[in-house]
Amino acid sequence: MTRTLIRHAHVAFPDAIQRANILVKDGRIAAVDAAEHTQADEVIDAAGLHLLPGVVDDQVHFREPGLTHKEDLSHASRACAKGGVTTFLEMPNTVPNATTCERLHSKLELGKQHSLVNYGFYIGATCENIDELRQAERTPGIKIFIGSSTGDLLVDEQDALERIFAETTLPITAHCEDESTIRRNTASIAEITSVADHSRIRDQEAALIATRRSLDLAFRHQHRFHVLHVSTAAETDILGDHRNLITAEACPHHLFFNINDYGRLGTRIQMNPSIKTADDNQGLWDALHQGRIQVIATDHAPHTLEEKSQPYPQSPSGLPAVENSLALLLNEVHHGRCTLEEVVRWMCDAPARVWDIIGKGRIAPGYDADLVLVDLNCSRTVLDEQQETKSRWSPWHGEELTGWPTTTWVGGRQVFRWNSNTETAEFAADVRGTEARFDHARGGFWATPEGIGT
Ligand code: DOR
Repeated sequence: MTRTLIRHAHVAFPDAIQRANILVKDGRIAAVDAAEHTQADEVIDAAGLHLLPGVVDDQVHFREPGLTHKEDLSHASRACAKGGVTTFLEMPNTVPNATTCERLHSKLELGKQHSLVNYGFYIGATCENIDELRQAERTPGIKIFIGSSTGDLLVDEQDALERIFAETTLPITAHCEDESTIRRNTASIAEITSVADHSRIRDQEAALIATRRSLDLAFRHQHRFHVLHVSTAAETDILGDHRNLITAEACPHHLFFNINDYGRLGTRIQMNPSIKTADDNQGLWDALHQGRIQVIATDHAPHTLEEKSQPYPQSPSGLPAVENSLALLLNEVHHGRCTLEEVVRWMCDAPARVWDIIGKGRIAPGYDADLVLVDLNCSRTVLDEQQETKSRWSPWHGEELTGWPTTTWVGGRQVFRWNSNTETAEFAADVRGTEARFDHARGGFWATPEGIGT
C-alpha cells in the first residue's frame, strides 16, 4: 500500500494545533511526528496549509434510492469530498423508506458501489417496525420523525414513542417539531401565500414542545438521544440538563439565516425546522461555544430548483449544504467568531464520538487517514454552477468565503483536489469510501473522559 508523507502542515490534533509531518500507511495514520525525510511514495508539501480530520456529517439526505432526480450517492459524495466531508450518516426518508434491515442493507450496498467517501445509514422508525429496530445492526442508530417533513415517516403517538424508547437499544435521534402546533398554526393563518409564513407555521413553540417531549422520553427511559437541527434559543436552554444522555446539533442554515433573509432568498431557505430569528441565530452560537450543542451537521436535503420555484406552500423544504459547510465555518474562523479548534471539535471529533464511529474524527496514530487540507487564506465565491450536488444550487450562491478545502483523503487515498490553475474541482473517480463501523458499547459522546464538561 502507498505511503504518503504530508509535510509541514499545521495539524489540528485533539489538544493543539501544531506543525507536524504526518505519515499515512495502509489507509491509516502511521505517525504524527515523522522525520523530515521519511521514505514515502508520495510527499505532499503542505507549508502554509492546515490539516484537519475529515468532517463527519451526521445528518444528510442523499435521496438514493427513489428520489435520484434530486440527488444521488455519486453526486452527493463528490460534493462531500469537495467540502472536506469524509464520512456521512444518511437519513431514512428515501423511497422506499429505510425502515427494515433488508432495506438498510441494500442502501449499504449502494454506498459501497457509488460513494467516494465513507457512509452509514440510519434505520427509520414507524409505529409498527419495533422488531426491525431491535434487530438492526451496521447502523448509527434509529431516526424518528416526531414531526413530519419530506416523505411520510412520522411517529407522533405517545404509546409508539414510549415503546421505541423502552424496547430498543440503539441510540435514537429525532426531528423535533410538534405536529399539533403546526396544524393549529396553519389553521390560524387566513391565507398562506408567502414563504415567510413557513416560520409562523413551524414556529419556535413547535420546536420547543417537541424537543422537550423527546428529552422527557430519553430521560425517563435512560436512552441515549441526539437532537437534530436545533433551531431556537429556547431549546438550547433545556439542553444542558441531562448531560450523560443527550447531545444536540446545529445546522449552518439555522446559524446563518433568519426570517429577514426570506425577502432575498425566498423558498431557497425554506427548511424544516424553519429558520427563525436573529436572536435564535445568536442563541445557537452561544450554545455551541458553551457546549450545550456539541455538533454541527448540514441536514443536506436537496430539491431541484424547479421544485423549489413553485409558490409556497407547494415548494418543498430542504437545501443542499455538504460542499460548503466547512468553508462556511472556516469563514467564521477568519472573521473571529470561533476558533479552528472549535470547528474541528464540532464537525469532526464530536459527531464521531456521538455515534461511536470507529477510527474517525481525530488525527492520531491508528486512526483512519480521512483527512482534509485547508487553505485558511483562500477566498472564493460560492456559485450555483460550480456545485457538485445533483441539484446544482446553493443557498449561499454569490457569497465570498475565506477558508477552503484544497485536498481530501479518504482511507489514505486522495479523492479530491482543487486545481487553482483551472479553478476546478478534480476527483479520483475510482476511489470508494468504506462502511462506517460503530462501537455502541463505547457509550457515546459523554463516555470518553475528555468529553466530560466540554
Ligand atoms: O427541510 C427539511 N427537508 N428538513 C428535513 O429534516 C428533511 C428534509 C428533506 O428530506 O427534504
